[in-house]
Amino acid sequence: MDKGKIKIRINDIEIFCAENLTILEIAKENNIEIQTLCYHPDLYPAGECGICIVEIAGESELKRACSTKVTDGMNIMTDSEKVKNARKLALEKLFEKHTRKCPNCIDLYHCKLLKLAALNGVKFAKIEPIKSRKEIYKFGPSIVFDASKCIACGNCVMACAKQGIGFYTKKKDENGENIVVPTENEKIDCIDCAQCINHCPVGAISSEGEFENIEKAFNQKGKVIAVQFAPSIRTSIGEEFNMPYGAVVTEKLVGAIRALGVDLVFDTSTGADFTTFEEANELIERLKDKESKLPMFTSCCPSWVKFVEFYHPELIPNLTKVRSPQAILGGIIKTYVAEKKGIDPKDIIVISIMPCVAKKAEIQRKELLIDGMKPVDHILTTREFARLLKKRGIKLAEVKESKPDSPLADHSGAGVIYGASGGVMESALRTAYFKLTGKELEEIGFTKVRGMDEVKRAEIDINGRKIKVGVVNGLGNARKILQELQVDPKKYDYIEVMSCPGGCIGGGGQPLPTSSEIRKKRAESLYLIDSTKQKRQAHKNPSLQKVYEDYMDEDKIKKILYCSFNPRPRGSIDIKKL
Ligand code: SF4
Ligand code: SF4
Ligand code: SF4
Ligand code: FES
Repeated sequence: MDKGKIKIRINDIEIFCAENLTILEIAKENNIEIQTLCYHPDLYPAGECGICIVEIAGESELKRACSTKVTDGMNIMTDSEKVKNARKLALEKLFEKHTRKCPNCIDLYHCKLLKLAALNGVKFAKIEPIKSRKEIYKFGPSIVFDASKCIACGNCVMACAKQGIGFYTKKKDENGENIVVPTENEKIDCIDCAQCINHCPVGAISSEGEFENIEKAFNQKGKVIAVQFAPSIRTSIGEEFNMPYGAVVTEKLVGAIRALGVDLVFDTSTGADFTTFEEANELIERLKDKESKLPMFTSCCPSWVKFVEFYHPELIPNLTKVRSPQAILGGIIKTYVAEKKGIDPKDIIVISIMPCVAKKAEIQRKELLIDGMKPVDHILTTREFARLLKKRGIKLAEVKESKPDSPLADHSGAGVIYGASGGVMESALRTAYFKLTGKELEEIGFTKVRGMDEVKRAEIDINGRKIKVGVVNGLGNARKILQELQVDPKKYDYIEVMSCPGGCIGGGGQPLPTSSEIRKKRAESLYLIDSTKQKRQAHKNPSLQKVYEDYMDEDKIKKILYCSFNPRPRGSIDIKKL
Protein backbone atom coordinates (compact mmCIF):
# COMPACT_ATOMS: atom_id res chain seq x y z
CA MET A 1 0.00 0.00 0.00
CA ASP A 2 1.34 3.47 -0.92
CA LYS A 3 2.33 5.75 1.90
CA GLY A 4 -0.53 8.08 2.83
CA LYS A 5 -3.10 5.66 1.44
CA ILE A 6 -5.76 3.88 3.40
CA LYS A 7 -7.81 0.77 2.72
CA ILE A 8 -11.61 0.88 2.66
CA ARG A 9 -14.39 -1.26 1.20
CA ILE A 10 -17.38 0.00 -0.74
CA ASN A 11 -20.02 -2.61 -1.55
CA ASP A 12 -17.42 -5.31 -0.83
CA ILE A 13 -14.92 -3.84 -3.30
CA GLU A 14 -11.52 -3.24 -1.73
CA ILE A 15 -10.22 0.25 -2.46
CA PHE A 16 -6.91 1.91 -1.64
CA CYS A 17 -7.42 5.63 -1.50
CA ALA A 18 -6.13 8.91 -0.17
CA GLU A 19 -7.21 10.21 3.19
CA ASN A 20 -9.04 13.50 3.50
CA LEU A 21 -11.49 12.72 0.73
CA THR A 22 -15.19 12.11 1.16
CA ILE A 23 -16.94 8.80 0.60
CA LEU A 24 -18.68 10.35 -2.41
CA GLU A 25 -15.39 11.49 -3.98
CA ILE A 26 -13.84 8.03 -3.58
CA ALA A 27 -16.99 6.36 -4.93
CA LYS A 28 -16.91 8.64 -8.00
CA GLU A 29 -13.22 7.91 -8.60
CA ASN A 30 -14.09 4.21 -8.59
CA ASN A 31 -17.22 4.50 -10.72
CA ILE A 32 -19.51 3.50 -7.86
CA GLU A 33 -22.84 5.28 -8.09
CA ILE A 34 -24.16 7.05 -4.99
CA GLN A 35 -27.40 8.96 -5.47
CA THR A 36 -27.15 12.67 -4.63
CA LEU A 37 -29.31 15.76 -4.87
CA CYS A 38 -27.88 18.83 -3.15
CA TYR A 39 -24.24 17.92 -3.73
CA HIS A 40 -22.61 20.25 -6.28
CA PRO A 41 -18.94 19.98 -7.26
CA ASP A 42 -18.60 23.79 -7.29
CA LEU A 43 -19.65 24.14 -3.65
CA TYR A 44 -18.60 23.03 -0.20
CA PRO A 45 -20.76 19.99 0.62
CA ALA A 46 -23.43 21.19 3.00
CA GLY A 47 -24.93 17.72 3.43
CA GLU A 48 -28.49 19.00 3.67
CA CYS A 49 -30.77 16.78 1.56
CA GLY A 50 -29.93 13.37 3.00
CA ILE A 51 -30.17 11.52 -0.32
CA CYS A 52 -26.53 10.39 -0.38
CA ILE A 53 -26.76 8.40 2.84
CA VAL A 54 -24.70 5.22 3.17
CA GLU A 55 -24.35 2.56 5.84
CA ILE A 56 -21.01 2.04 7.55
CA ALA A 57 -20.45 -1.32 9.22
CA GLY A 58 -20.37 -1.00 12.99
CA GLU A 59 -22.12 2.39 13.05
CA SER A 60 -25.75 2.66 13.99
CA GLU A 61 -26.36 5.99 12.24
CA LEU A 62 -26.37 6.33 8.45
CA LYS A 63 -23.82 8.84 7.11
CA ARG A 64 -24.00 11.39 4.30
CA ALA A 65 -21.47 10.38 1.67
CA CYS A 66 -20.98 13.92 0.35
CA SER A 67 -19.78 15.27 3.67
CA THR A 68 -18.25 12.27 5.46
CA LYS A 69 -14.54 11.65 5.03
CA VAL A 70 -13.17 8.14 4.58
CA THR A 71 -11.12 6.56 7.36
CA ASP A 72 -8.91 3.50 7.29
CA GLY A 73 -10.83 0.23 7.42
CA MET A 74 -14.22 1.78 6.67
CA ASN A 75 -16.69 -0.74 5.26
CA ILE A 76 -19.37 1.13 3.34
CA MET A 77 -22.65 -0.09 1.85
CA THR A 78 -24.39 2.22 -0.57
CA ASP A 79 -27.53 0.19 -1.25
CA SER A 80 -28.39 -1.86 1.84
CA GLU A 81 -32.07 -2.25 2.80
CA LYS A 82 -31.54 0.25 5.60
CA VAL A 83 -30.10 2.77 3.11
CA LYS A 84 -32.89 2.19 0.59
CA ASN A 85 -35.64 2.73 3.17
CA ALA A 86 -34.02 5.83 4.64
CA ARG A 87 -33.35 7.30 1.20
CA LYS A 88 -36.96 6.81 0.19
CA LEU A 89 -38.11 8.48 3.39
CA ALA A 90 -35.70 11.40 2.84
CA LEU A 91 -37.00 11.82 -0.68
CA GLU A 92 -40.61 11.77 0.44
CA LYS A 93 -39.80 14.46 3.00
CA LEU A 94 -38.23 16.60 0.27
CA PHE A 95 -41.35 16.25 -1.85
CA GLU A 96 -43.37 17.50 1.11
CA LYS A 97 -41.48 20.78 0.80
CA HIS A 98 -41.33 20.93 -2.96
CA THR A 99 -44.46 21.90 -4.86
CA ARG A 100 -44.33 20.21 -8.24
CA LYS A 101 -44.81 22.68 -11.10
CA CYS A 102 -43.21 20.51 -13.76
CA PRO A 103 -44.56 21.93 -17.05
CA ASN A 104 -43.04 25.34 -16.35
CA CYS A 105 -39.94 24.21 -14.50
CA ILE A 106 -36.49 25.04 -15.89
CA ASP A 107 -35.43 21.52 -14.91
CA LEU A 108 -38.25 19.85 -16.87
CA TYR A 109 -35.89 17.98 -19.19
CA HIS A 110 -33.27 17.03 -16.60
CA CYS A 111 -35.05 16.95 -13.28
CA LYS A 112 -32.99 15.21 -10.61
CA LEU A 113 -35.94 14.95 -8.23
CA LEU A 114 -38.12 13.08 -10.72
CA LYS A 115 -35.21 10.80 -11.63
CA LEU A 116 -34.64 10.02 -7.95
CA ALA A 117 -38.37 9.43 -7.43
CA ALA A 118 -38.39 6.89 -10.27
CA LEU A 119 -35.23 5.18 -9.01
CA ASN A 120 -36.55 4.88 -5.47
CA GLY A 121 -40.16 3.99 -6.24
CA VAL A 122 -41.61 7.18 -4.75
CA LYS A 123 -45.23 7.64 -5.79
CA PHE A 124 -46.39 11.23 -6.10
CA ALA A 125 -50.10 10.72 -5.61
CA LYS A 126 -49.53 10.16 -1.91
CA ILE A 127 -47.24 13.12 -1.39
CA GLU A 128 -48.61 16.60 -1.10
CA PRO A 129 -46.59 19.52 0.21
CA ILE A 130 -47.73 19.84 3.80
CA LYS A 131 -46.42 23.22 4.73
CA SER A 132 -45.89 24.79 1.39
CA ARG A 133 -44.45 28.26 1.48
CA LYS A 134 -46.32 30.12 -1.19
CA GLU A 135 -44.11 33.12 -1.86
CA ILE A 136 -42.71 33.78 -5.30
CA TYR A 137 -40.17 36.62 -5.35
CA LYS A 138 -38.84 38.49 -8.31
CA PHE A 139 -35.52 40.35 -7.93
CA GLY A 140 -34.92 43.07 -10.43
CA PRO A 141 -35.93 42.27 -13.98
CA SER A 142 -34.43 38.80 -14.31
CA ILE A 143 -34.50 36.40 -11.34
CA VAL A 144 -37.53 34.57 -9.97
CA PHE A 145 -37.34 32.61 -6.68
CA ASP A 146 -40.26 30.29 -6.03
CA ALA A 147 -40.12 29.43 -2.32
CA SER A 148 -42.83 26.81 -2.72
CA LYS A 149 -40.29 24.63 -4.59
CA CYS A 150 -37.34 25.27 -2.26
CA ILE A 151 -36.02 22.33 -0.21
CA ALA A 152 -33.75 24.63 1.85
CA CYS A 153 -30.53 22.93 0.76
CA GLY A 154 -28.63 26.20 0.96
CA ASN A 155 -26.81 25.88 -2.38
CA CYS A 156 -28.02 29.30 -3.51
CA VAL A 157 -26.83 30.78 -0.21
CA MET A 158 -23.35 29.38 -0.89
CA ALA A 159 -23.28 30.21 -4.61
CA CYS A 160 -24.26 33.81 -3.91
CA ALA A 161 -21.85 34.12 -0.98
CA LYS A 162 -19.09 32.84 -3.29
CA GLN A 163 -19.90 35.80 -5.52
CA GLY A 164 -19.33 37.99 -2.46
CA ILE A 165 -22.97 39.13 -2.48
CA GLY A 166 -24.99 37.16 0.11
CA PHE A 167 -28.46 37.86 -1.22
CA TYR A 168 -30.06 34.72 0.29
CA THR A 169 -30.22 33.80 3.96
CA LYS A 170 -31.29 30.78 5.95
CA LYS A 171 -33.74 31.18 8.77
CA LYS A 172 -36.35 29.22 10.74
CA ASP A 173 -40.00 29.46 9.83
CA GLU A 174 -42.81 29.62 12.40
CA ASN A 175 -42.65 25.81 12.77
CA GLY A 176 -38.94 25.86 13.47
CA GLU A 177 -38.05 24.46 10.04
CA ASN A 178 -35.10 25.73 8.01
CA ILE A 179 -36.11 27.94 5.13
CA VAL A 180 -34.20 30.14 2.70
CA VAL A 181 -35.36 33.66 1.90
CA PRO A 182 -34.05 36.69 0.02
CA THR A 183 -32.21 39.07 2.25
CA GLU A 184 -33.95 41.85 4.10
CA ASN A 185 -30.67 43.73 4.31
CA GLU A 186 -31.10 46.84 2.20
CA LYS A 187 -27.37 47.12 1.64
CA ILE A 188 -27.25 43.89 -0.36
CA ASP A 189 -28.28 43.99 -3.99
CA CYS A 190 -28.54 41.13 -6.48
CA ILE A 191 -26.41 41.65 -9.57
CA ASP A 192 -28.28 39.15 -11.82
CA CYS A 193 -25.37 36.73 -12.28
CA ALA A 194 -27.80 33.81 -11.80
CA GLN A 195 -25.24 31.52 -10.23
CA CYS A 196 -27.98 30.73 -7.69
CA ILE A 197 -30.05 29.31 -10.57
CA ASN A 198 -27.18 27.14 -11.78
CA HIS A 199 -26.68 25.61 -8.34
CA CYS A 200 -30.29 25.00 -7.28
CA PRO A 201 -31.00 21.27 -7.56
CA VAL A 202 -34.78 21.57 -7.80
CA GLY A 203 -35.52 24.45 -10.17
CA ALA A 204 -36.71 26.77 -7.40
CA ILE A 205 -34.85 29.72 -8.93
CA SER A 206 -35.18 30.60 -12.58
CA SER A 207 -34.77 33.45 -14.98
CA GLU A 208 -37.72 35.48 -16.14
CA GLY A 209 -38.66 33.59 -19.32
CA GLU A 210 -39.54 35.64 -22.37
CA PHE A 211 -41.45 32.99 -24.29
CA GLU A 212 -44.64 34.99 -24.45
CA ASN A 213 -42.87 38.08 -25.74
CA ILE A 214 -40.97 36.02 -28.28
CA GLU A 215 -44.13 34.27 -29.49
CA LYS A 216 -45.77 37.69 -29.83
CA ALA A 217 -42.79 38.96 -31.83
CA PHE A 218 -42.98 35.99 -34.18
CA ASN A 219 -46.66 36.58 -34.78
CA GLN A 220 -46.43 40.33 -35.43
CA LYS A 221 -47.13 41.11 -39.08
CA GLY A 222 -44.67 43.26 -41.04
CA LYS A 223 -41.81 42.78 -38.56
CA VAL A 224 -38.31 41.61 -39.44
CA ILE A 225 -36.97 39.24 -36.78
CA ALA A 226 -33.19 39.34 -36.41
CA VAL A 227 -31.55 36.86 -34.03
CA GLN A 228 -27.98 36.97 -32.78
CA PHE A 229 -26.24 34.26 -30.74
CA ALA A 230 -23.37 34.65 -28.27
CA PRO A 231 -19.89 33.17 -28.79
CA SER A 232 -20.11 30.68 -25.91
CA ILE A 233 -23.35 29.04 -27.03
CA ARG A 234 -21.84 27.16 -29.96
CA THR A 235 -19.97 24.87 -27.57
CA SER A 236 -22.67 24.44 -24.91
CA ILE A 237 -26.12 24.12 -26.49
CA GLY A 238 -25.32 20.65 -27.88
CA GLU A 239 -25.54 19.37 -24.29
CA GLU A 240 -29.27 20.14 -24.28
CA PHE A 241 -29.59 17.70 -27.17
CA ASN A 242 -27.52 14.88 -25.65
CA MET A 243 -24.32 15.79 -27.48
CA PRO A 244 -20.97 15.54 -25.66
CA TYR A 245 -19.71 18.39 -23.48
CA GLY A 246 -17.97 20.97 -25.64
CA ALA A 247 -19.50 19.77 -28.94
CA VAL A 248 -19.07 22.51 -31.57
CA VAL A 249 -22.41 23.12 -33.32
CA THR A 250 -22.08 26.61 -34.84
CA GLU A 251 -23.65 25.89 -38.23
CA LYS A 252 -26.33 23.65 -36.71
CA LEU A 253 -27.17 26.45 -34.31
CA VAL A 254 -27.63 28.92 -37.17
CA GLY A 255 -29.77 26.31 -38.94
CA ALA A 256 -31.90 25.79 -35.82
CA ILE A 257 -32.47 29.55 -35.47
CA ARG A 258 -33.56 29.70 -39.12
CA ALA A 259 -35.87 26.71 -38.56
CA LEU A 260 -37.83 28.96 -36.15
CA GLY A 261 -38.69 31.12 -39.13
CA VAL A 262 -36.58 34.18 -38.35
CA ASP A 263 -35.54 36.58 -41.11
CA LEU A 264 -31.92 37.36 -40.26
CA VAL A 265 -29.28 35.54 -38.21
CA PHE A 266 -26.06 37.08 -36.92
CA ASP A 267 -23.19 35.88 -34.76
CA THR A 268 -22.48 38.04 -31.69
CA SER A 269 -18.78 37.21 -32.27
CA THR A 270 -19.01 39.91 -34.96
CA GLY A 271 -20.19 42.35 -32.27
CA ALA A 272 -17.31 41.15 -30.09
CA ASP A 273 -14.87 42.20 -32.82
CA PHE A 274 -16.28 45.75 -32.65
CA THR A 275 -16.00 45.73 -28.84
CA THR A 276 -12.38 44.60 -29.15
CA PHE A 277 -11.53 47.16 -31.82
CA GLU A 278 -12.84 50.07 -29.75
CA GLU A 279 -11.63 48.71 -26.41
CA ALA A 280 -8.10 48.44 -27.81
CA ASN A 281 -8.37 52.11 -28.90
CA GLU A 282 -9.54 53.13 -25.44
CA LEU A 283 -6.74 51.19 -23.74
CA ILE A 284 -4.14 52.87 -25.94
CA GLU A 285 -5.61 56.32 -25.18
CA ARG A 286 -5.63 55.62 -21.46
CA LEU A 287 -2.03 54.39 -21.54
CA LYS A 288 -0.94 57.59 -23.32
CA ASP A 289 -2.96 60.05 -21.25
CA LYS A 290 -1.53 60.52 -17.76
CA GLU A 291 -4.86 61.96 -16.53
CA SER A 292 -6.82 58.85 -17.55
CA LYS A 293 -7.90 56.26 -15.03
CA LEU A 294 -5.92 53.03 -14.93
CA PRO A 295 -6.36 50.16 -14.62
CA MET A 296 -9.03 49.98 -17.27
CA PHE A 297 -11.64 47.33 -16.50
CA THR A 298 -13.66 45.45 -19.11
CA SER A 299 -17.39 46.20 -18.99
CA CYS A 300 -18.98 43.62 -21.28
CA CYS A 301 -20.24 41.57 -18.32
CA PRO A 302 -23.40 43.31 -17.05
CA SER A 303 -23.25 41.64 -13.62
CA TRP A 304 -19.78 43.04 -13.06
CA VAL A 305 -20.97 46.48 -14.21
CA LYS A 306 -23.89 46.30 -11.77
CA PHE A 307 -21.51 45.20 -9.03
CA VAL A 308 -19.37 48.29 -9.67
CA GLU A 309 -22.39 50.59 -9.84
CA PHE A 310 -23.81 49.23 -6.56
CA TYR A 311 -20.76 48.43 -4.49
CA HIS A 312 -17.81 50.34 -6.00
CA PRO A 313 -19.08 53.45 -7.79
CA GLU A 314 -15.63 55.00 -7.36
CA LEU A 315 -14.48 52.56 -10.08
CA ILE A 316 -17.00 53.69 -12.71
CA PRO A 317 -14.39 55.91 -14.44
CA ASN A 318 -12.17 52.82 -14.77
CA LEU A 319 -14.76 50.83 -16.74
CA THR A 320 -14.26 50.88 -20.49
CA LYS A 321 -17.12 52.82 -22.06
CA VAL A 322 -17.34 50.47 -25.02
CA ARG A 323 -20.64 48.59 -25.25
CA SER A 324 -20.95 44.85 -24.85
CA PRO A 325 -20.89 42.75 -28.06
CA GLN A 326 -24.63 42.04 -28.11
CA ALA A 327 -25.52 45.70 -27.48
CA ILE A 328 -23.18 46.80 -30.28
CA LEU A 329 -24.40 44.19 -32.75
CA GLY A 330 -28.06 44.98 -31.95
CA GLY A 331 -27.34 48.66 -32.63
CA ILE A 332 -25.55 47.90 -35.89
CA ILE A 333 -28.45 45.66 -37.02
CA LYS A 334 -30.97 48.44 -36.36
CA THR A 335 -28.89 51.14 -38.07
CA TYR A 336 -26.38 49.89 -40.66
CA VAL A 337 -28.15 46.64 -41.64
CA ALA A 338 -31.52 48.44 -41.68
CA GLU A 339 -30.08 51.07 -44.05
CA LYS A 340 -28.36 48.49 -46.29
CA LYS A 341 -31.50 46.39 -46.58
CA GLY A 342 -33.92 49.31 -46.75
CA ILE A 343 -35.84 48.30 -43.61
CA ASP A 344 -37.39 50.80 -41.22
CA PRO A 345 -35.48 50.23 -37.91
CA LYS A 346 -38.83 50.40 -36.10
CA ASP A 347 -39.82 47.20 -37.91
CA ILE A 348 -36.81 45.22 -36.74
CA ILE A 349 -37.07 43.09 -33.62
CA VAL A 350 -33.67 41.96 -32.32
CA ILE A 351 -33.54 38.85 -30.14
CA SER A 352 -30.26 37.80 -28.51
CA ILE A 353 -29.58 34.22 -27.46
CA MET A 354 -27.18 34.57 -24.56
CA PRO A 355 -25.47 32.41 -21.93
CA CYS A 356 -26.46 35.09 -19.51
CA VAL A 357 -29.41 36.08 -17.36
CA ALA A 358 -27.91 39.50 -16.60
CA LYS A 359 -28.29 40.46 -20.27
CA LYS A 360 -32.04 40.62 -19.62
CA ALA A 361 -31.30 43.49 -17.27
CA GLU A 362 -28.63 44.98 -19.53
CA ILE A 363 -31.09 45.59 -22.39
CA GLN A 364 -33.27 47.67 -20.05
CA ARG A 365 -30.49 50.23 -19.57
CA LYS A 366 -31.45 53.72 -20.71
CA GLU A 367 -27.80 54.41 -21.50
CA LEU A 368 -28.00 52.01 -24.45
CA LEU A 369 -30.81 53.79 -26.30
CA ILE A 370 -29.87 55.00 -29.78
CA ASP A 371 -32.04 58.07 -30.45
CA GLY A 372 -34.66 56.50 -28.18
CA MET A 373 -34.39 53.05 -29.82
CA LYS A 374 -33.44 49.88 -27.91
CA PRO A 375 -30.62 48.03 -29.71
CA VAL A 376 -31.93 44.67 -28.46
CA ASP A 377 -35.56 43.84 -27.73
CA HIS A 378 -35.52 40.39 -26.13
CA ILE A 379 -33.08 37.98 -24.53
CA LEU A 380 -33.37 34.21 -24.49
CA THR A 381 -30.85 32.27 -22.44
CA THR A 382 -29.24 29.15 -23.94
CA ARG A 383 -31.56 27.01 -21.82
CA GLU A 384 -34.64 28.98 -22.84
CA PHE A 385 -33.69 28.83 -26.50
CA ALA A 386 -33.16 25.05 -26.28
CA ARG A 387 -36.57 24.78 -24.69
CA LEU A 388 -38.14 26.81 -27.48
CA LEU A 389 -36.58 24.45 -30.04
CA LYS A 390 -37.84 21.41 -28.15
CA LYS A 391 -41.31 22.94 -27.89
CA ARG A 392 -41.34 23.40 -31.67
CA GLY A 393 -39.98 19.88 -32.26
CA ILE A 394 -36.73 21.16 -33.79
CA LYS A 395 -33.87 18.69 -33.28
CA LEU A 396 -30.45 20.34 -33.32
CA ALA A 397 -28.67 17.31 -34.78
CA GLU A 398 -31.10 17.10 -37.68
CA VAL A 399 -31.37 20.72 -38.85
CA LYS A 400 -29.72 21.86 -42.07
CA GLU A 401 -26.45 23.68 -41.34
CA SER A 402 -26.33 27.36 -42.22
CA LYS A 403 -24.19 30.49 -41.87
CA PRO A 404 -24.91 34.04 -40.64
CA ASP A 405 -26.28 36.66 -43.03
CA SER A 406 -24.48 39.43 -44.85
CA PRO A 407 -23.55 42.20 -44.47
CA LEU A 408 -22.23 41.01 -41.09
CA ALA A 409 -21.32 37.46 -42.02
CA ASP A 410 -17.68 37.52 -40.85
CA HIS A 411 -16.08 37.32 -37.45
CA SER A 412 -12.58 36.61 -36.23
CA GLY A 413 -11.33 33.89 -33.90
CA ALA A 414 -10.86 36.66 -31.33
CA GLY A 415 -14.61 37.21 -31.34
CA VAL A 416 -15.25 33.54 -30.53
CA ILE A 417 -12.95 33.28 -27.49
CA TYR A 418 -14.95 36.04 -25.76
CA GLY A 419 -16.98 33.19 -24.29
CA ALA A 420 -14.12 31.99 -22.05
CA SER A 421 -12.41 33.74 -19.15
CA GLY A 422 -9.41 35.63 -20.55
CA GLY A 423 -10.89 35.79 -24.05
CA VAL A 424 -11.80 39.48 -23.97
CA MET A 425 -8.33 40.40 -22.72
CA GLU A 426 -6.57 38.21 -25.28
CA SER A 427 -8.65 39.64 -28.13
CA ALA A 428 -7.99 43.24 -27.07
CA LEU A 429 -4.25 42.59 -26.69
CA ARG A 430 -4.04 41.10 -30.20
CA THR A 431 -5.53 44.30 -31.63
CA ALA A 432 -3.84 46.80 -29.26
CA TYR A 433 -0.47 45.25 -30.11
CA PHE A 434 -1.14 45.68 -33.82
CA LYS A 435 -2.35 49.25 -33.39
CA LEU A 436 0.73 50.24 -31.39
CA THR A 437 3.42 48.38 -33.33
CA GLY A 438 1.97 47.84 -36.81
CA LYS A 439 2.88 44.17 -36.35
CA GLU A 440 0.83 41.16 -35.36
CA LEU A 441 1.53 39.51 -32.00
CA GLU A 442 4.03 36.72 -32.56
CA GLU A 443 2.25 34.47 -30.13
CA ILE A 444 -1.34 35.10 -31.20
CA GLY A 445 -2.60 32.66 -28.61
CA PHE A 446 -1.82 34.69 -25.47
CA THR A 447 -2.13 31.56 -23.34
CA LYS A 448 -1.08 33.15 -20.04
CA VAL A 449 -4.58 34.56 -19.56
CA ARG A 450 -6.38 31.32 -20.45
CA GLY A 451 -7.69 28.56 -18.23
CA MET A 452 -9.97 28.11 -15.26
CA ASP A 453 -7.71 29.68 -12.60
CA GLU A 454 -9.67 32.16 -10.54
CA VAL A 455 -7.09 34.94 -10.92
CA LYS A 456 -4.59 35.12 -13.81
CA ARG A 457 -1.82 37.67 -14.13
CA ALA A 458 0.53 38.42 -17.04
CA GLU A 459 2.72 41.07 -18.61
CA ILE A 460 3.03 41.90 -22.26
CA ASP A 461 5.79 44.00 -23.77
CA ILE A 462 4.50 46.48 -26.36
CA ASN A 463 7.14 48.83 -27.81
CA GLY A 464 9.21 48.53 -24.63
CA ARG A 465 6.29 49.28 -22.32
CA LYS A 466 5.23 46.46 -20.05
CA ILE A 467 1.44 46.24 -19.92
CA LYS A 468 0.36 44.50 -16.73
CA VAL A 469 -2.88 42.60 -17.06
CA GLY A 470 -5.14 40.67 -14.72
CA VAL A 471 -8.04 38.34 -15.48
CA VAL A 472 -10.62 37.17 -12.95
CA ASN A 473 -13.73 35.05 -13.12
CA GLY A 474 -16.24 35.12 -10.29
CA LEU A 475 -17.00 38.24 -8.31
CA GLY A 476 -15.56 36.82 -5.10
CA ASN A 477 -12.26 36.79 -6.99
CA ALA A 478 -12.85 40.31 -8.32
CA ARG A 479 -12.90 41.45 -4.69
CA LYS A 480 -9.44 39.90 -4.27
CA ILE A 481 -8.04 41.90 -7.16
CA LEU A 482 -9.68 45.07 -5.80
CA GLN A 483 -7.91 44.45 -2.50
CA GLU A 484 -4.60 44.10 -4.37
CA LEU A 485 -5.28 47.48 -6.00
CA GLN A 486 -5.85 49.08 -2.62
CA VAL A 487 -2.33 48.08 -1.63
CA ASP A 488 -0.77 48.94 -5.01
CA PRO A 489 -3.00 51.03 -7.32
CA LYS A 490 -0.46 50.65 -10.16
CA LYS A 491 -0.32 46.87 -10.04
CA TYR A 492 -2.39 46.50 -13.23
CA ASP A 493 -3.06 48.45 -16.43
CA TYR A 494 -5.94 46.40 -17.73
CA ILE A 495 -8.25 43.93 -15.96
CA GLU A 496 -10.89 41.59 -17.36
CA VAL A 497 -13.69 40.66 -14.98
CA MET A 498 -16.32 38.04 -15.79
CA SER A 499 -18.83 37.27 -13.07
CA CYS A 500 -19.43 33.63 -13.85
CA PRO A 501 -17.04 30.74 -13.20
CA GLY A 502 -14.86 30.27 -16.29
CA GLY A 503 -16.54 33.30 -17.96
CA CYS A 504 -19.69 33.07 -20.11
CA ILE A 505 -19.19 29.35 -20.73
CA GLY A 506 -20.29 29.06 -17.07
CA GLY A 507 -23.02 31.68 -17.43
CA GLY A 508 -26.24 31.66 -15.45
CA GLY A 509 -28.28 30.83 -18.56
CA GLN A 510 -26.18 27.90 -19.77
CA PRO A 511 -27.24 24.25 -19.91
CA LEU A 512 -27.26 22.33 -16.65
CA PRO A 513 -25.47 20.62 -15.02
CA THR A 514 -22.32 22.68 -14.74
CA SER A 515 -18.94 21.86 -13.22
CA SER A 516 -15.37 22.96 -13.77
CA GLU A 517 -14.78 19.90 -15.99
CA ILE A 518 -17.75 20.78 -18.20
CA ARG A 519 -16.76 24.46 -18.37
CA LYS A 520 -13.22 23.45 -19.31
CA LYS A 521 -14.49 21.40 -22.25
CA ARG A 522 -16.70 24.24 -23.49
CA ALA A 523 -13.75 26.67 -23.28
CA GLU A 524 -11.29 24.33 -24.99
CA SER A 525 -13.67 24.02 -27.93
CA LEU A 526 -13.85 27.82 -28.26
CA TYR A 527 -10.04 28.02 -28.38
CA LEU A 528 -10.01 25.21 -30.93
CA ILE A 529 -12.38 27.17 -33.19
CA ASP A 530 -10.11 30.23 -32.84
CA SER A 531 -6.98 28.24 -33.67
CA THR A 532 -8.47 27.03 -36.95
CA LYS A 533 -9.74 30.45 -38.09
CA GLN A 534 -7.90 32.16 -40.90
CA LYS A 535 -8.55 35.56 -39.33
CA ARG A 536 -7.87 35.56 -35.61
CA GLN A 537 -7.71 39.30 -34.91
CA ALA A 538 -10.74 41.57 -34.64
CA HIS A 539 -9.14 44.27 -36.85
CA LYS A 540 -8.87 41.75 -39.69
CA ASN A 541 -12.61 41.07 -39.80
CA PRO A 542 -13.77 42.19 -43.31
CA SER A 543 -17.37 42.82 -42.17
CA LEU A 544 -16.08 45.15 -39.45
CA GLN A 545 -13.73 46.95 -41.85
CA LYS A 546 -16.63 47.54 -44.26
CA VAL A 547 -18.94 48.95 -41.57
CA TYR A 548 -16.26 51.49 -40.55
CA GLU A 549 -15.49 52.40 -44.17
CA ASP A 550 -19.08 52.64 -45.40
CA TYR A 551 -21.00 53.84 -42.43
CA MET A 552 -19.33 54.94 -39.23
CA ASP A 553 -18.53 58.55 -38.37
CA GLU A 554 -17.67 60.09 -35.03
CA ASP A 555 -21.28 60.65 -34.07
CA LYS A 556 -22.40 57.12 -34.99
CA ILE A 557 -19.43 55.55 -33.22
CA LYS A 558 -20.39 57.42 -30.05
CA LYS A 559 -24.07 56.53 -30.30
CA ILE A 560 -23.81 52.88 -31.35
CA LEU A 561 -20.56 51.68 -29.84
CA TYR A 562 -20.20 53.58 -26.56
CA CYS A 563 -22.27 54.04 -23.40
CA SER A 564 -22.01 55.32 -19.84
CA PHE A 565 -22.50 53.94 -16.34
CA ASN A 566 -23.95 55.50 -13.23
CA PRO A 567 -23.88 54.81 -9.50
CA ARG A 568 -26.90 52.91 -8.16
CA PRO A 569 -28.15 53.60 -4.67
CA ARG A 570 -27.98 50.52 -2.46
CA GLY A 571 -31.28 48.80 -1.87
CA SER A 572 -32.65 49.99 -5.21
CA ILE A 573 -33.18 46.46 -6.46
CA ASP A 574 -36.84 45.67 -6.58
CA ILE A 575 -37.87 42.57 -4.60
CA LYS A 576 -41.48 41.87 -5.49
CA LYS A 577 -43.67 39.16 -4.06
CA LEU A 578 -45.64 37.82 -7.02
S1 SF4 B 1 -28.34 36.31 -9.24
FE1 SF4 B 1 -26.27 36.22 -8.36
S2 SF4 B 1 -26.25 37.95 -6.96
FE2 SF4 B 1 -28.39 37.57 -7.45
S3 SF4 B 1 -29.10 36.26 -5.87
FE3 SF4 B 1 -28.42 34.93 -7.54
S4 SF4 B 1 -26.28 34.42 -7.05
FE4 SF4 B 1 -26.87 36.16 -5.80
S1 SF4 C 1 -33.70 27.87 -3.73
FE1 SF4 C 1 -32.78 25.98 -4.51
S2 SF4 C 1 -30.62 26.18 -4.00
FE2 SF4 C 1 -31.70 27.66 -2.75
S3 SF4 C 1 -32.08 26.60 -0.83
FE3 SF4 C 1 -33.89 26.36 -2.11
S4 SF4 C 1 -33.59 24.42 -3.13
FE4 SF4 C 1 -31.59 25.01 -2.34
S1 SF4 D 1 -19.77 36.20 -17.21
FE1 SF4 D 1 -20.95 36.19 -19.11
S2 SF4 D 1 -22.75 34.98 -18.63
FE2 SF4 D 1 -21.86 35.57 -16.67
S3 SF4 D 1 -22.94 37.46 -16.10
FE3 SF4 D 1 -21.08 38.04 -17.18
S4 SF4 D 1 -21.70 38.30 -19.32
FE4 SF4 D 1 -23.30 37.12 -18.28
S1 FES E 1 -26.19 15.06 -1.67
FE1 FES E 1 -25.32 14.66 0.26
S2 FES E 1 -26.70 15.55 1.62
FE2 FES E 1 -27.49 16.13 -0.33
